[in-house]
Amino acid sequence: MTMAPAPDVKWGVLGAGWLVQTATGAAIQHAAGAQLYATGARDIFRAEATGAVRAYDNYQAVVDNPEVEAVYICLSNEAHLPWIRACITAGKHVLCEKPMVLTAAEAASVCAEAYDAGLLLVEAVWSRWHPRMRRIVDLASSGAIGEITDYLATFTFDGVASDNYRLSPDHGGGALYDVGIYPLHAMFAVLPEIESVTVLAVNQKHSDQGVDLTTMADLTWGGATRASITGSFIMPQSQLLSLIGTEGEVRVADNEAFATYQKPTELWVDGHLENFPSTDAYQVMFEEVSARIRGANGWLLPHRDSIRVARTVDSLL
Ligand SMILES: NC(=O)c1ccc[n+]([C@@H]2O[C@H](COP(=O)([O-])OP(=O)(O)OC[C@H]3O[C@@H](n4cnc5c(N)ncnc54)[C@H](OP(=O)(O)O)[C@@H]3O)[C@@H](O)[C@H]2O)c1
Repeated sequence: MTMAPAPDVKWGVLGAGWLVQTATGAAIQHAAGAQLYATGARDIFRAEATGAVRAYDNYQAVVDNPEVEAVYICLSNEAHLPWIRACITAGKHVLCEKPMVLTAAEAASVCAEAYDAGLLLVEAVWSRWHPRMRRIVDLASSGAIGEITDYLATFTFDGVASDNYRLSPDHGGGALYDVGIYPLHAMFAVLPEIESVTVLAVNQKHSDQGVDLTTMADLTWGGATRASITGSFIMPQSQLLSLIGTEGEVRVADNEAFATYQKPTELWVDGHLENFPSTDAYQVMFEEVSARIRGANGWLLPHRDSIRVARTVDSLL
């Protein structure tokens, strides 16, 4: 007798802004084991345009819908914490866009709340689901390149629209929360033994409203180790990632270390290139989180990583 396949996880989506419209709405539609069931947005026409079975002009209706099993939160950053809590209260699993919350205390507390409720809460740092990033993490954490001594990563671009929430302190704006967080997530991923890092130096430029437009930081985890990370809204476009260990080096040479999307990629490992097929890492993320909701295998970004990153962000802002 063959077993019937598990039913698709019915996803609710909060927000229908740029990311949902250009990538994650379609990723849920294409993901095996997932269905885009309900979307809520302040504008119901944008909610309907996502193609969800149900569309609402508010977020609570998605959370309250008994058919919805898991909620993907894609709102401006200050709205993440209250809506994570609303979802947990309603008994829904949560996949929340980065930064999951704004402080380490909030991260620790909301992760504990989800754990106690028996629900998944996952920070949607999509780059962590990309096969190339997984290979980088495997190379580093397996000891294949020895002990990591040097880490360099950047995520910078030039040009945020003046009315975008990214420039608003009231909405959790700033370059570190928006893009600097990717270099930090990758850094802790390749340093699985390290609980926290020490800030050696930080160099920031702020807007008149008080958000960081650039954060450059030098960090250490002891001895002669050093990481340099940069996030910026006002620098030329870059997404660099380079790791030096006592036994080898790993480098992303295509300047798209964190946001490569639906194209083949390469990784430079000690003088030779490894190749990776075209991937939609958002789709992989929804597939793996959906699988875990059904009790099957699927990788989840650990709570510990969200907390380690949030602790470092605290020390830099
Ligand atoms: N993983 C990635 O690759 C990636 C890329 C970009 C962004 N993100 C994350 O995704 C989230 C949304 O980013 P986005 O680029 O899609 O942003 P966006 O287009 O500027 O949209 C912001 C979203 O926040 C909601 N919102 C609610 N109240 C708001 C208010 N008072 N002012 C402005 N927006 C408000 C809007 O919801 P309504 O639709 O209801 O109006 C809108 O969907 C952020 O947390 C960001 O960090 C992730």
